Amino acid sequence: MKLLENKVAIVTGAARGIGEAIALKLAEQGASIAFTYVSDSSAEKAASLVDKLQELGVKAKAYKSNAAVFTEAESFVNDVLAEFGKIDICVNNAGISKDNLLLRMTEQQWDEVIDVNLKSVFNITKQVIKPMMKAKAGTIINMSSIIGIRGNAGQSSYAASKAGIIGFTKSIAAELGSRNIRCNAIAPGFVETDMTHYLQDGAGAADFLKKIPLGRFGKAEEIANTTLFLASDLSSYFTGQVLSACGGLNI
Ligand code: NAI
Repeated sequence: MKLLENKVAIVTGAARGIGEAIALKLAEQGASIAFTYVSDSSAEKAASLVDKLQELGVKAKAYKSNAAVFTEAESFVNDVLAEFGKIDICVNNAGISKDNLLLRMTEQQWDEVIDVNLKSVFNITKQVIKPMMKAKAGTIINMSSIIGIRGNAGQSSYAASKAGIIGFTKSIAAELGSRNIRCNAIAPGFVETDMTHYLQDGAGAADFLKKIPLGRFGKAEEIANTTLFLASDLSSYFTGQVLSACGGLNI
């Protein structure tokens, strides 16, 4: 028996990176997958992910939808409900970084990061809690970051958005625990994806790795494994928690 048999999961921003790894991991465990991608340039990757998911024997569909826009999030969730009938698992994964020292950061850069990383979590979660409340069950997983806990020079907007996700997660856990809806966050350290490409290849990479007790960057699949734990009944007594999947970077 697979861990997520007969479950339906939505994942935002899953055409690549951590989101893609999560979609594949949840599908391997039997969940049907509805996921979003945001730009036309990702359409091919999204279609290829749908093929891979279907090869795993689950129902899968890609939706072009910007999670930062309230009405698009609303349409996405309504379309998924019409097509899949329910939503058991919601993974708010979409995120961007526009790193800059505060002195040089523009208002537009700030707004974009807060909208994509934090407002998107509000937009999607607000829509999924209605069907979850009716079903008296659900699990919501929000992708925060170790930077949301520690802060980092040059990343004030990203850190603020990811810290905001933690406050939001704990509040929703408190609001909806009595309805059997769980809400948890993951705080990854540095994971090998396009987002951290500049760190992996930079001249300071070796110095940076010395700060990580496990001595390496994380893999997207390791974050997907953490997501699987929070998505399944293995974590049935977890809510309002932040799991740091960071190689010990937070010690
Ligand atoms: P990535 O850049 O490879 O993937 C991000 C995905 O989000 C892309 O598919 C992108 O198209 C999508 N996206 C961006 N804006 C969107 C929007 N408005 N609506 C819908 N989708 C949108 O990055 P990665 O590394 O896979 O990141 C995934 C999540 O994990 C992000 O929230 C990121 O902040 C978080 N994270 C990543 C870490 C890392 O080291 N890579 C560390 C900690 C957290």
